[in-house]
Amino acid sequence: MKVTVVGAGAVGATCADNIARKELASELVLLDIKEGLAEGKAQDMMQTAALLGFDTKIVGVTNDYSKTAGSNVVVITSGLPRRPGMTREELIGTNAGIVKTVAENILKHSPDAMIIVISNPMDTMTYLALQSTGLPKNKIIGMGGALDSSRFKYQLSQHLNCSPADLNAIVIGGHGDTTMIPLIRLATWNSVPVTKLLSAAAQQQIINDTMVGGATLTKLIGTSAWYAPGAAGAALVETILRDEKKLFTCCVALNGEYGQKDICLGVPVVIGKNGWEKIIELDLDKDEQAAFAKSAEAVRSMNDVLKTL
Ligand code: 2OP
Repeated sequence: MKVTVVGAGAVGATCADNIARKELASELVLLDIKEGLAEGKAQDMMQTAALLGFDTKIVGVTNDYSKTAGSNVVVITSGLPRRPGMTREELIGTNAGIVKTVAENILKHSPDAMIIVISNPMDTMTYLALQSTGLPKNKIIGMGGALDSSRFKYQLSQHLNCSPADLNAIVIGGHGDTTMIPLIRLATWNSVPVTKLLSAAAQQQIINDTMVGGATLTKLIGTSAWYAPGAAGAALVETILRDEKKLFTCCVALNGEYGQKDICLGVPVVIGKNGWEKIIELDLDKDEQAAFAKSAEAVRSMNDVLKTL
């Protein structure tokens, strides 16, 4: 199996590192437009192979898409990261052009690839990748909900003093500070509803902290986070290449599901060798439905900006 990660910044390199450590592919190409960056990071990672005991060949290239040919999965991380105080949405002007060019170049050399989009604003970049490649919708997956759900589990685990791995909890909707919807009503700690274990105030705090999870880290670090975004990208590569049929919340094209059409938005999906294979329709209550519709409205107006660029 061959995987390409486009963008050798912190998120792309972390994603590549996770993919290599898990030996998800025999060949891993890391591509960046900055001369030498991908080559250097690929070599650095290869120099961990003897220590960590993995057998993936990592190749770094500067903008040479011919080296990505025949990739089974491509992860797009390229574009500017957030700076403190910036929203993901403010990146659209710069990142749309980058993501469109990357997606088109990928398609030329790997027409059968599945594409995982991490670049921000992620929901709109996923929609753009779908439009600009014309690939079947099941092959384009935006990573946001996988990351946000993991952040939600982290916040819950802090309050419950439990292992995040023991929690079942998802975030649907957009991957934006105000568009994501942590579904606390449906969250469980090994089947026990967390709403039975947490006060209303604690629940609200968890929801708020999850929604600004990325912004909080950007403020602390001075740029966008990378460990969890990179790990989320690699987890999606894993479920595809190992055909695990895992259920993740991801940003996918909706065609009437959850009352939405012509939009890519975060919903629970089963992911395996065919990309996202099935959307799971949850029984949302009235408030959750309204929040989802509001989230869709915000993402749709962001998608409309694409027409003006
Ligand atoms: C984040 O939330 C990179 O959008 C990503 O950290």
